[in-house]
Amino acid sequence: MIYLDNSATTKPFDDVLETYMKVSKNYFGNASSIHGLGGQAEKLLSQSRSQIASLLHVKPQEIIFTSGGSEGNNLAIKGIALQYSNRGKHIITTSIEHPSVSEACNQLTELGFEITYLPVDENGVISLDSLKQSIREDTILVSIIHVNNEVGTVQPIEEIGKFLEKYPKIIYHVDHVQGIGKTYLDFNKARLDLCTISGHKFNGLKGTGILFVRQGVKMKSLIAGGDQEMQKRAGTENVAGIVALAKALRLTMENREKYMKHLIGLKKTIIENLTMMKGIKIHTPEENSAPHIINFSIDGLKPEVFVHLLEEKEIYVSTTSACSSKKNEPSKTLLAMGVPKVLANSSIRISISHQNQLDEVSILISTIEKSMKKLKNVMGERNGI
Ligand SMILES: Cc1ncc(COP(=O)(O)O)c(C=O)c1O
Repeated sequence: MIYLDNSATTKPFDDVLETYMKVSKNYFGNASSIHGLGGQAEKLLSQSRSQIASLLHVKPQEIIFTSGGSEGNNLAIKGIALQYSNRGKHIITTSIEHPSVSEACNQLTELGFEITYLPVDENGVISLDSLKQSIREDTILVSIIHVNNEVGTVQPIEEIGKFLEKYPKIIYHVDHVQGIGKTYLDFNKARLDLCTISGHKFNGLKGTGILFVRQGVKMKSLIAGGDQEMQKRAGTENVAGIVALAKALRLTMENREKYMKHLIGLKKTIIENLTMMKGIKIHTPEENSAPHIINFSIDGLKPEVFVHLLEEKEIYVSTTSACSSKKNEPSKTLLAMGVPKVLANSSIRISISHQNQLDEVSILISTIEKSMKKLKNVMGERNGI
């Protein structure tokens, strides 16, 4: 099997699975219980919080454990909107967000909030000027995706943060789900107030995630209940998942440079080969893009057919982001980048991991070539050519 859908999810590290099993078996107490078993779970929880905080260079009390990226984004956006609605009801985001941001914003419009979706250029990047022009007296939140999950474009998060320094009342949230481990982002330098991370995108487990909330930033909790997670997210903590998350993050951060170098090499090989193939249009920009995502369209071919042809050879890629791949609609991100509808409707995403090897990439390339020939022959026969 050659797994190339790592933006959808990654294969958990063996160490992560072992940790999860061990903690689930031996430390299954509720971290809020006052007896010894609860105390042991609470100790593991607070050790994980401190370890994660130190890996991200923030404070332990700024780490909120969530169930993943969608929850983190919803909590950040709605939690801030509800907290500060008396100050204003205007939110700025981009036109290429993950649905967990754009749909959360859509829901807020029903409560009278107004959303500005910043446009992007042909590379999928927003301009600082359009952000400047969009800021209003009643703007309470700016939420920006760091690495786009479909094409891999990286936004100028640090520049935006520096610019927003002039507006201390505006909260700055970044969706860092596709960026963690594949880019460098200094939360302090970028002056982030909130930042979303999801465990299963870096070889941790599904159902685990982190929302960084800068100390002093207030927000409404969306899940009412107990006092867990600094009263920002009620519910019994998934201690085994959290300890496993801390392990995945440590392994990712310790090896980040090595992994990134490996990814850059693989991505370069894939792009060079795709560029030489007739009828392929690559959408991932050459500059300012993350090292693990390659998005392209094949002229005149249905992407689902192509994905299934690759699957016959046990190569797994995706048509677009995992959340939208069954919708059969053109990619919103590609349309926003000005890609024509036919191409935006037929894009394929390859998303690589440090676990992939060069020989797998060679098999991918030759299989793409053969599949394209096969499909073109079939279409030629159908059209009587
Ligand atoms: C950029 C981005 N944000 C948020 C999410 C949602 O994360 P999760 O799957 O953990 O809910 C994803 C998932 O693909 C993503 O790519």
